[in-house]
Amino acid sequence: MKKQSDFLVIGSGIAGLSFALKAARFGKVILLCKTTLDEANTAFAQGGIASVTYSPDNFDKHVSDTLIAGDGHCNRAAVEKVVREAPAQINELISWGVNFDRNADGKFDLHREGGHCEHRILHHKDNTGFEIQKSLVQRAKEEPNIEILENHFAVDIITQHHLGKIVTHHTPNIECYGAYVIDEAANTIHTFLSKITMLATGGIGNVYLTTTNPDISTGDGIAMAHRARAIIEDMEFVQFHPTALYNPGERPSFLITEAMRGYGAVLRTQDGSEFMQKYDERRSLAPRDIVSRAIDNEMKIRGEYFVYLDVTHKNAEETKMHFPNICKKCRELGIDITKDYIPVSPTEHYLCGGIKADLNARTSINRLYAAGECSCTGLHGGNRLASNSLIEAIVYANAAVNDAKNILPALQYKQDIPDWNDEGTSLNEEMILITQTFMEVEQIMSTYVGIVRSDLRLTRAMRRLEILFRETEELFDRSVVSRKICELRNVISVSYLIIKHAMQRRESLGLHYTIDYPKKQDENRMKKIQGF
Ligand code: FAD
Ligand code: SIN
Repeated sequence: MKKQSDFLVIGSGIAGLSFALKAARFGKVILLCKTTLDEANTAFAQGGIASVTYSPDNFDKHVSDTLIAGDGHCNRAAVEKVVREAPAQINELISWGVNFDRNADGKFDLHREGGHCEHRILHHKDNTGFEIQKSLVQRAKEEPNIEILENHFAVDIITQHHLGKIVTHHTPNIECYGAYVIDEAANTIHTFLSKITMLATGGIGNVYLTTTNPDISTGDGIAMAHRARAIIEDMEFVQFHPTALYNPGERPSFLITEAMRGYGAVLRTQDGSEFMQKYDERRSLAPRDIVSRAIDNEMKIRGEYFVYLDVTHKNAEETKMHFPNICKKCRELGIDITKDYIPVSPTEHYLCGGIKADLNARTSINRLYAAGECSCTGLHGGNRLASNSLIEAIVYANAAVNDAKNILPALQYKQDIPDWNDEGTSLNEEMILITQTFMEVEQIMSTYVGIVRSDLRLTRAMRRLEILFRETEELFDRSVVSRKICELRNVISVSYLIIKHAMQRRESLGLHYTIDYPKKQDENRMKKIQGF
């Protein structure tokens, strides 16, 4: 079956939903998600969304904090864009029904998180993402120009390659004509034709053994774009959140928001000693890469699997009011956070790299846009500043609509696109082959491509991954295509890109730390980007 729409949006987190809501003003939108509408990283976000709101905060301070966290690797134009356009996008969220907490005087209650010099995090208690997802989903359901399709898994984007042309990284003017999509209920692959396609497929967490990301985060958009020969950048910068709740076996890992350290919580080793003063003068409020490496180091020295986060010195009633969900979750595990320390450890949380997108969210493939966590705009550079990703997603979704609406009138649907070719694929292979390989990928990545890297570890990881790649491609060629085998292929592609980019970066920068090259190549990089 063929379906067509002006806009095909793959992903229903903040990037996909906000793009769809605005694009619907200019044409018909089909919005796909691979499971249900609410299963997205967006719905899991706790801390909030960064935007300059009141003095003494100002744009320059938010720009500077973002550049410092990014370790001199940010694209300054992207940083300026997001910071300056943030307040307008916050107003848009409010107009769509998102409730941010306010103080008794009616002003927004702003949190402060690691790396921010001011209080600038708008939030809804400690479940901001859920509030955003709920409001945007509600608006999208009310919008007649948006057709929502749940349980629709995008397999590949369609380009000239599917018309029999050889497409390489050097082919000029690659174009995207839509996507092949598995309709899980009908158990068949449909051809979705579009004039404009938006990739908003979120993160990659399930490449690692532990992650704060939900199951949907398998880097599908990045892998699809890579197969279509789009430019992928900065994959070595994988962010590990310092304080996921240590609860072995729980997947995804439950996050203890950074806002808790902004509120005054302190990190301690298992013997009760503070340790962050040894690593950074900002102590527990240093940027995430520094805190995660410090915890990793303490755990390795001591042979321990977690450290503690201590919030017991704060007013118990205030703690319960600010962090109701964290209190509830910990209570279920027998931890009263007003009296007991919380066991935490660093866990994969966010990917700073992804599909290269310019200031209009255009990728290197014509008619293909990318926004949100699957994209790489240059905002985060070597390390993302806390609460800068929700705002990046909505600012770039907005930029994409503004750009796409101008080119839309001149575009046609591509004719003669063949249906998905499943000739010669009769095998319904045992699921165990897929799940076992998936686990091997996670093990390789967690063991060799984690917080601290080396040439030896990366080489080992690449060699092992190559075997899994070959076996999986053989299996894919013979199998009836399913979501599970596609996800496996995608995590292998994403892992390959992370290792490859990590091998190419012969220095330690931001989140990429390697014992073989512990220094930066250019110590003046930060000064240059800050304009000194
Ligand atoms: P997502 O919200 O992840 O949505 C991805 C969508 O793509 C889903 O609908 C999924 O079904 C769909 N999809 C994926 N692959 C396919 C496919 N092949 N076919 C069809 N559909 C597909 N950021 C902040 O700024 N502030 C915070 O406080 C914060 N807290 C966080 C807490 C947690 C626990 C986590 C996990 C993340 C947090 N982040 C936070 C990061 C932030 O939530 C994400 O970066 C952001 O929500 C990503 O939004 P997105 O729209 O790009 O993708
Ligand atoms: C958190 O609440 O600590 C997560 C914030 C983020 O990932 O930006």
